[in-house]
Amino acid sequence: MKSKKVIVAGATGMLGSQIVKELLAQGADVTAMVRASSNRAMLTRMGVKNFVIGDMMDAPSLKQAISPAHQFDVIVASAAGYTRRAKGDGPVTDTVGYQNLVDASKAAGIPRFVLISILESDKARSVPHFYNKYRIEQYLKEKGQPYIALRPGAFLDQTPDFILPKITKGILPTFLTGTYGIIYTPQLAKYTALAAVNLPDSVLNTSIDVGWDRPVNEKILQAAFERVLNKKIAVKPVMPPFVVNYVLPVIGRFSKKVKDMYEMIRWIDTGVYISKNTQRQKELFGALPGVEESVAQYCRNNGLI
Ligand SMILES: NC(=O)c1ccc[n+]([C@@H]2O[C@H](COP(=O)([O-])OP(=O)(O)OC[C@H]3O[C@@H](n4cnc5c(N)ncnc54)[C@H](OP(=O)(O)O)[C@@H]3O)[C@@H](O)[C@H]2O)c1
Repeated sequence: MKSKKVIVAGATGMLGSQIVKELLAQGADVTAMVRASSNRAMLTRMGVKNFVIGDMMDAPSLKQAISPAHQFDVIVASAAGYTRRAKGDGPVTDTVGYQNLVDASKAAGIPRFVLISILESDKARSVPHFYNKYRIEQYLKEKGQPYIALRPGAFLDQTPDFILPKITKGILPTFLTGTYGIIYTPQLAKYTALAAVNLPDSVLNTSIDVGWDRPVNEKILQAAFERVLNKKIAVKPVMPPFVVNYVLPVIGRFSKKVKDMYEMIRWIDTGVYISKNTQRQKELFGALPGVEESVAQYCRNNGLI
């Protein structure tokens, strides 16, 4: 059977690069969409041979990158502006940039757009970088671009360079204070690759929650790390409660970025950031990963066990 031609936007990112790896493992014919300034070294080492230059803030560049001549079967979008990797990145990429990407995909007649969205993004009106995902889901619908939106919760391994050294020292750094849905990025990368090349067309035009078999909080994660590593783990908030409750709201009056982060922590604290439909994930991707099993996978992958 002919390999599916998949273009990945955000291929150099933390998640995007893992999606590329999974797609290659599934036998897909992968093209990485990168910016002129992107560092492609890791993708080249992985064996990616096809690159196109496309900047989501430069619509004409997308016309070229995604042109019908490439005959892509799928576009996967894992790019993000709010993570601010380059000068000029910001929420505008997650709104205007994503609209440009959808428009170019629709114009090229790509039959499937796989979006990395966010769990319960439709309810997160107060959290711009969450709600922007819902806006793009709506935009895909409006434009009649066939899509699958995967909605993960928080990433266990977000900012890997920060978390790993702490865990190694027996400290679990916590950023969120409530109970929330969670996923480990290699698991999400696998689901994304499956959504791109394996799920039937009957799944198109839906949003699917993806995560572990139950939500977590710091105590659940602490217990799982203690069992897996067989040692005491201390929970240490990245920011003391005083900073979260009193300092962030003040700085947030002057900084949209800080306000977004503060509103996210507050919103997650209300307990809404959890999957309401784990059954759908089970039907499409099989048994949901368990907490301890996932923490063990993380520890194994990082040489901790
Ligand atoms: N972190 C979480 O807990 C969490 C939870 C749920 C969902 N998500 C979603 O997961 C996705 C992946 O996150 P991540 O942490 O892997 O992101 P990341 O590492 O910050 O990567 C962002 C990617 O977007 C690309 N990009 C940025 N602006 C672009 C533009 N104008 N044109 C083309 N490409 C552009 C970057 O390319 P360069 O290499 O050129 O910079 C990079 O490849 C995001 O959509 C995020 O919203 C994250």
